[in-house]
Amino acid sequence: MNSTTAILTALFVASGVLFVFAGTGPLRYGRHARIDASGVPVRLAWLVMASPGLLLCPWIYEQGASGGLVPTIMLVYWMLAYGWRGLVFPALMRGTHGKRMPWGIVVLGTIFTAALAYLNALVLAETWREYPLRWLWSVRFLYGSMLFLAGMFISRASDFVLSRLRRRGDLGYMLPRGVFFEELSCPNYLGEMLMWLGWAVLTWSKAGLAAATLSIALLLPRAVSHHLWYRRTFPNYPPNRRAIIPFVL
Ligand SMILES: NC(=O)c1ccc[n+]([C@@H]2O[C@H](COP(=O)([O-])OP(=O)(O)OC[C@H]3O[C@@H](n4cnc5c(N)ncnc54)[C@H](OP(=O)(O)O)[C@@H]3O)[C@@H](O)[C@H]2O)c1
Repeated sequence: MNSTTAILTALFVASGVLFVFAGTGPLRYGRHARIDASGVPVRLAWLVMASPGLLLCPWIYEQGASGGLVPTIMLVYWMLAYGWRGLVFPALMRGTHGKRMPWGIVVLGTIFTAALAYLNALVLAETWREYPLRWLWSVRFLYGSMLFLAGMFISRASDFVLSRLRRRGDLGYMLPRGVFFEELSCPNYLGEMLMWLGWAVLTWSKAGLAAATLSIALLLPRAVSHHLWYRRTFPNYPPNRRAIIPFVL
């Protein structure tokens, strides 16, 4: 087994393990954090976890320097995803004073991002396959881009709504309202999952599939935990609101 196959296999196995162990409780950050948790200040934690996506992927892409138009567009998609997660999202966050992300989650998150960045950079550098210009008009690229961009819109708009719930200095949680939140507790997670599913389709690669699988393994169970938490915390929580998939879950 070569190193890329080993990393890919490890990511799929880790996704399965995370999904199964999510049944024992949500990852302990954000509203599910332990009160006395030590670790990395949350803004810095998000920057650190996204940094391999921001740095490693363009660097490896540059080394491969296939330079075709299609991989370049894909690289722009990738950078938009990680630019938001590592730079814009931490800048938008409110109520972070004294909040920390546990070391274990930061280390694990950084390793996962590095592995995904490495594998997906090889895809963009056309190490495994070529993306000729006609790929732009293929059903895979068009449908995948639609999913990716729609997911990005839902996720970013929802991240923005959540970030504005607190006034400066507030630390607590409010009942979110607004377009996507009328139906779902976690539209930001739905958007993120759609984005990476779109990425898997538009690159039509195992590395893309690994990104989608890991997102689903992390976010689907976490959305259910958030949803149950909202129901416990707000007695007037809208009864028809679902966790993450409209009308289903
Ligand atoms: N692709 C992946 O594998 C992956 C994995 C994890 C996360 N993500 C993405 O990263 C982003 C952040 O994840 P997350 O788990 O931190 O999301 P989250 O729990 O929804 O929190 C997002 C931000 O909004 C705040 N917030 C959430 N609900 C709030 C409420 N009711 N009232 C006031 N503030 C509220 C949170 O504050 P607190 O921090 O104080 O709770 C946090 O700053 C999400 O968009 C997610 O999709 C992606």
